[in-house]
Amino acid sequence: MNTLKHVAIIMDGNGRWGLNKKKSRNFGHKAGIKTVEKIIKETIKNKIKYLTLFAFSTENWKRPKNEIKYLFKLLESFIQERIIEFNKNNIKLKVIGIKKFSSKLNKLLIESEKKTKNNNKLQINLALNYGAKDELVRSIKKLVKKKKIINEKNISKFLFTEGIPDPDLLIRTGNTRRLSNFLLWQLAYAEIYFEKKLWPDFNERDYNKILKKFKSVKRNFGKI
Ligand code: FPP
Repeated sequence: MNTLKHVAIIMDGNGRWGLNKKKSRNFGHKAGIKTVEKIIKETIKNKIKYLTLFAFSTENWKRPKNEIKYLFKLLESFIQERIIEFNKNNIKLKVIGIKKFSSKLNKLLIESEKKTKNNNKLQINLALNYGAKDELVRSIKKLVKKKKIINEKNISKFLFTEGIPDPDLLIRTGNTRRLSNFLLWQLAYAEIYFEKKLWPDFNERDYNKILKKFKSVKRNFGKI
């Protein structure tokens, strides 16, 4: 049976969900928060050590201003309301991506990372203003600047995910089959599951079904 240390998720479909309900895209984002909570709880139950959630990409800045503003408001209240509980539950929060938001949000993210840095039951990596190509270019630039050899080990060392094992499993909801510039380096050997349901409809049962399937798959890592 495969061991499962790290699950990464592209939480796609909020916008469509909101519109399907004859409401707004933002209504879908709000509903998406409930799924985030369910999945965090279930990840702990399954004793998985790392959960990486794609919450805002470098390309998402192209969205309408009101949607961007709403997403950051949601994120801000999500963290403010749960940071004490995260700490109680031994959850570590880490941001992967460039923290270039309002000074209030930047401060909140930095403080939350600091407060939870010694926790070790579950590490939640929030991918925010994250793009995998940008991450790789930054890493290689650092290696060149430091006159280090460009090899796999050194490139990994300067990614946002330094020290974090690569995801074993990637789930993308929302009936779309693409990687959208997410963890391109780290997903080299991940099992990938595309889920038809939109993120707000995705639930514990769907998640557990995928985890079960993952555990029974034979992973070869290039061998036979
Ligand atoms: C993709 O759906 C989703 C996002 C760009 C944002 C995800 C954000 C949340 C689930 C809420 C905040 C998250 C946290 C961790 C607090 P989409 O808008 O691209 O959906 P669409 O494909 O239907 O347009």
